[in-house]
Amino acid sequence: MRRFEGRSALISAAGAGLGRGVAFRLAREGAAVTIWDRDADALAEAAGEAAAEGLAVTTRVVDMMDGAAIAAAVAAMAADGAIDVLVNNIGGSLHTPFGFLDQSDADWDKVMAVNVTACVQTTRAVIPHMVAAGYGRIINMGSKAGRFGSLFAGANYVAAKGAMQALTLQIAQEFGPKGITCNTICPGAILTPRVQGLLAERQSAEERARVLGTIPVRRHGTVEDVAAAIAYFASEEAGFVTGASLDLNGGQAMVI
Ligand SMILES: NC(=O)c1ccc[n+]([C@@H]2O[C@H](COP(=O)([O-])OP(=O)(O)OC[C@H]3O[C@@H](n4cnc5c(N)ncnc54)[C@H](O)[C@@H]3O)[C@@H](O)[C@H]2O)c1
Repeated sequence: MRRFEGRSALISAAGAGLGRGVAFRLAREGAAVTIWDRDADALAEAAGEAAAEGLAVTTRVVDMMDGAAIAAAVAAMAADGAIDVLVNNIGGSLHTPFGFLDQSDADWDKVMAVNVTACVQTTRAVIPHMVAAGYGRIINMGSKAGRFGSLFAGANYVAAKGAMQALTLQIAQEFGPKGITCNTICPGAILTPRVQGLLAERQSAEERARVLGTIPVRRHGTVEDVAAAIAYFASEEAGFVTGASLDLNGGQAMVI
């Protein structure tokens, strides 16, 4: 499928992890993709892989804790043409302590900054360009954590991801009349190397086996699972879907 021929997409924090998989998926379907990351080496590696495959992937070093850098990067992309798709991928628990009482105010601020503020700033900078074009697809990266709580990331992360779902509802209502949709994807644990390390640190082998047994499809998610769902929300054919939060967890949430 080449659903994104002639479309451009911006994916934040996509030098590695899920964002990178999403970027390659959209590029393989024809999008001109821009990826941001603060890690120049990760971006260089992604750019090399994209070039080898003949994919249109542009990279830019952006530290998303810097609102001015976000605004400048959006302006630079908009100067080159439309921004049709925005994937607010940046986020994470930053491996702050699991226990609520063990989390500090500084942990709260950091986790809210990376999961919420950076996405708000990006969205605020991008939307005027989408409004001018009369078209936009915004996909926020929520989590199973924000829907049901988490087995391994703490309350700050859970609250931040819940905030992204709430933000999605309002952006969808406010900008629907302008041709812009906004949806959230809520993945369960996706076994990237980083998440495998975190699970190994925070859950015993027995606990991990027990959790796997509660997932009806009996497997964890993959980067490709996430990329396929985001590609749907990002497509023109998803134009009647907005304000939605999609569970992507193998049915895990149906089972205690
Ligand atoms: N991996 C999972 O299991 C999972 C599950 C549910 C939701 N999510 C969400 O999906 C998104 C991506 O998760 P991931 O596990 O791929 O992330 P990750 O931790 O692997 O990070 C991806 C990239 O973010 C970059 N980054 C970090 N801080 C940055 C900053 N300040 N500025 C610019 N770039 C920065 C890193 O350099 C890295 O390349 C997050 O929002 C996460 O909360 C992940």
